Amino acid sequence: MRIGILTSGGDCPGLNAVIRGAVLNGIKTYGHEFVGLRDGWRGLVEGDVMELPRAEVRGISKQGGTIIGTSRTNPFEGERGGPENISRTMAELGIDAVIAIGGEGTLAAAKRLTDAGLNIVGVPKTIDNDLDATDYTFGFDTAVSIATEAMDRLRTTGESHHRCMVAEVMGRNVGWIALHSGMAAGAHAILIPEQSVTMEQVNEWVGQAAERGRAPLVVVAEGWIPDGAEEAFSTRGLDSFGRPRLGGVGEQLAESIEAATGIESRATVLGHIQRGGVPTAFDRTLATRLGMAAVDAVSDEAWGMMVSLRGTSVIRVPFQAALNNLKRVPPKRYEEAAILFG
Ligand code: F6P
Repeated sequence: MRIGILTSGGDCPGLNAVIRGAVLNGIKTYGHEFVGLRDGWRGLVEGDVMELPRAEVRGISKQGGTIIGTSRTNPFEGERGGPENISRTMAELGIDAVIAIGGEGTLAAAKRLTDAGLNIVGVPKTIDNDLDATDYTFGFDTAVSIATEAMDRLRTTGESHHRCMVAEVMGRNVGWIALHSGMAAGAHAILIPEQSVTMEQVNEWVGQAAERGRAPLVVVAEGWIPDGAEEAFSTRGLDSFGRPRLGGVGEQLAESIEAATGIESRATVLGHIQRGGVPTAFDRTLATRLGMAAVDAVSDEAWGMMVSLRGTSVIRVPFQAALNNLKRVPPKRYEEAAILFG
């Protein structure tokens, strides 16, 4: 078979390891051929492809980003979009099947296209770890490691100046990165979108840490808003994809803590640093296994299925399983972490 691979949505450490795993397994086990579809669905819609022979994937699993590019293109839009046009383009390019690597939006589009008769299998991807049908997504471990190291560094400068340090991490809808990195770094407060917490409570945790002579360390997920202060912490309009523009809560939080407690406070927004660079060994291994399993699924013509991690096994689940719910931090996990706050 000739298989097209695409990476869609926000990039994520481990994407290249998926591509390598797929290409090597496909060539060595089945004798398949591969092409990369450039910049996500755009490459499929416009027929913009690059050949992916074995030499092209040599040594790329440690490389961040994606060698085939990504975008947030919607495959149903534009003159050449939609299942019939895409099907024609695939036939012209001799592509028998597509491996779509992406998050919720990508998998939802993949499901619609598969329902219309296209041959697609999926690989889940998000640094946020919020896809329901898989225990972990690759990229998450790397993001947590980067955020933890950043907080370790914030701590030494905070302690030197007797300041409260606020670290804002990614997490639009869920707080997995904040929860894990905050626990690992020993944060005195972790604030996540799933949990209502008032500014009074935050200030209490900060005050308790300061009273013990510690430099308070607060980690906040970008989508958190304090309970009862929604107006003051409102987001700054919409971004080019129509989503609330994030990346400001850390600064607002630091100002609010300083005003209420009198403790000098500073905020650091980690932003896209969490998504760039070398993936951890865990993410490389997970991503490689998922890429290999995706090719097995294509070879079995398991269209409409996504490969996923359950425990230590890679299994297949229907696209829909990833679309039903976001995987949020359960209250019990937050309560467990909160024992350590203050
Ligand atoms: O979904 C992954 C993610 O990194 C979110 O955590 C973040 O809110 C968003 O993507 C940022 O998107 P963009 O790169 O388009 O600004």
